[in-house]
Amino acid sequence: MTSSVLKISDLRVSVDDKPILRGVDLEIRQGEIHALMGPNGSGKSTLAYALAGHPKYEITGGSIEVDGQSLNELDACARARLGMFLAFQYPVTIPGVRVADFLRHAVTNMRNPDRKEGEGLMPMREFRTELRSQMDALGVDAEFARRYLNDGFSGGEKKRMEIIQLAMLKPKFAILDETDSGLDSDAVRVVSEGINKLSGPQMGVLIITHHERLLEFNRPQFTHVMLAGKIVETGDAGLAHELHAHGYAGVRERHPVEAAEEKDIVPVAAGV
Ligand SMILES: Nc1ncnc2c1ncn2[C@@H]1O[C@H](COP(=O)(O)OP(=O)(O)O)[C@@H](O)[C@H]1O
Ligand SMILES: [Mg+2]
Repeated sequence: MTSSVLKISDLRVSVDDKPILRGVDLEIRQGEIHALMGPNGSGKSTLAYALAGHPKYEITGGSIEVDGQSLNELDACARARLGMFLAFQYPVTIPGVRVADFLRHAVTNMRNPDRKEGEGLMPMREFRTELRSQMDALGVDAEFARRYLNDGFSGGEKKRMEIIQLAMLKPKFAILDETDSGLDSDAVRVVSEGINKLSGPQMGVLIITHHERLLEFNRPQFTHVMLAGKIVETGDAGLAHELHAHGYAGVRERHPVEAAEEKDIVPVAAGV
């Protein structure tokens, strides 16, 4: 089996007509784990949203391709069908929709790209068997599937939902924007163990995080550093470690041009 590749070339993205990403190159193969780090406001989440096809993030140049097929003009659903998965940072609460209902719709749509609105869902028995086995493997209590989606979910439960989605949808490329604020230790453990169980030759992972534990548990083969809307350095897991230990001062010194451009992108330098 040949492995798929997600190729991002000279990607330029604007938000409200303001250029944020200014030429990002990144290539991720199925089976690889990449970490994306960088100071606050450098454009990491913007990259994640642009990859997912969020309408607010306008691609003004460059390309996003999966196995040579351009995603630029595709909406979020079409991208998901080509194997892209983005864990949204602001999961919506949908009263009356249970976790299992939501997943059954998502899985059905993903596996039957030509399905019309109102056509049948994946057979209940088959779906339940699959969901139960995935939840067992992840150590999630069966009761969780009966909860209302995101209704009163703790940080850890939101992450559990994200990981179950990953397990059921089996994307080729998972983009996980795990901002560190709001990730309590339970949530970090859920994400760490989940990615660890689910990643493998079939999944390429881009983890956006500063969290040491996440990256220790899921050692990235590649660490990328973003500064002012560009990836300025790429290294191995050692680079992530160095950034944890010493912060971004060294990166700014090594890339004075981008460091000077930070003020054009970040309205208030957060100083991380
Ligand atoms: N939804 C948005 N609305 C307005 N500005 C945004 C939005 N998303 C990103 N930006 C702009 O892009 C810059 C980079 O933000 P972001 O991609 O969230 O950085 P990071 O995730 O690296 O902290 C922000 O400083 C802001 O100016
Ligand atoms: Mg962010």
